[in-house]
Amino acid sequence: MARATLDKKPRDVARMFDAVGKKYDLTNTVLTGGIDTLWRKATRKRLGIAPGDRVLDLAAGTGVSTEELSKSGAFVVGCDFSLGMLKAGRHRDVPLVAGDGLHLPFADNTFDAVTISFGLRNFGDTKAGLEEMARVTKPGGRMTVCEFSTPVIPVFSTLYKEYLMRLLPVVAKVVSSDPESYVYLAESIRAWPDQGDLARIIRSAGWIDVGWRNVTGGVVALHSATKP
Ligand SMILES: C[S@@+](CC[C@H](N)C(=O)[O-])C[C@H]1O[C@@H](n2cnc3c(N)ncnc32)[C@H](O)[C@@H]1O
Repeated sequence: MARATLDKKPRDVARMFDAVGKKYDLTNTVLTGGIDTLWRKATRKRLGIAPGDRVLDLAAGTGVSTEELSKSGAFVVGCDFSLGMLKAGRHRDVPLVAGDGLHLPFADNTFDAVTISFGLRNFGDTKAGLEEMARVTKPGGRMTVCEFSTPVIPVFSTLYKEYLMRLLPVVAKVVSSDPESYVYLAESIRAWPDQGDLARIIRSAGWIDVGWRNVTGGVVALHSATKP
């Protein structure tokens, strides 16, 4: 068992993802009912990347998000600190490199756009992660965070919380190689800042033009910003 806790110590988080790597893609599809495909497409569109752009997909894991972003024709490199996740994505035709999001192995002002899908929530220090993303982005470059958020319709919000706390751990027991990790998933989603609070943290990390778009009624939010 390699479950991380809400203090999100990097070693615990990396070990937890190492343990779920092999079945990560399958578990994802089952737990989200396949809607994650739409969230990934929406992230690609929102980032507005094009052929010729250099893009970083941070916390890329098995490269499932990197693969979708690559459909834009941009050169997209995925980076993650879990070797287990990276290994599980070796079959994908995208470049994946090992690296810690808080100390990225890239020079200042390298990328036209930087993005992170379902990764920022796992960083021990959210603001420091966003500052590091800004460091490697060119001035005027764009950033999108795709992350679970707070549903905006009250009845739906209640149903969703019930799903997270009751059904999700049960389903995870059937499909995942490490169901305990999915208790962490539910807890970390509940403890995550809502749309407005995350926008404030992004601004405090030095990004400008911060805004967001809710998808699936706010189950997921896509926050975007520009590096000044
Ligand atoms: C839920 S997975 C997301 C994978 C992929 N982006 C997706 O959309 O499915 C979260 C990933 O964040 C990575 N991660 C968490 N903290 C990290 C950090 N500080 N540096 C690099 N990767 C990190 C984990 O190793 C894991 O692979």
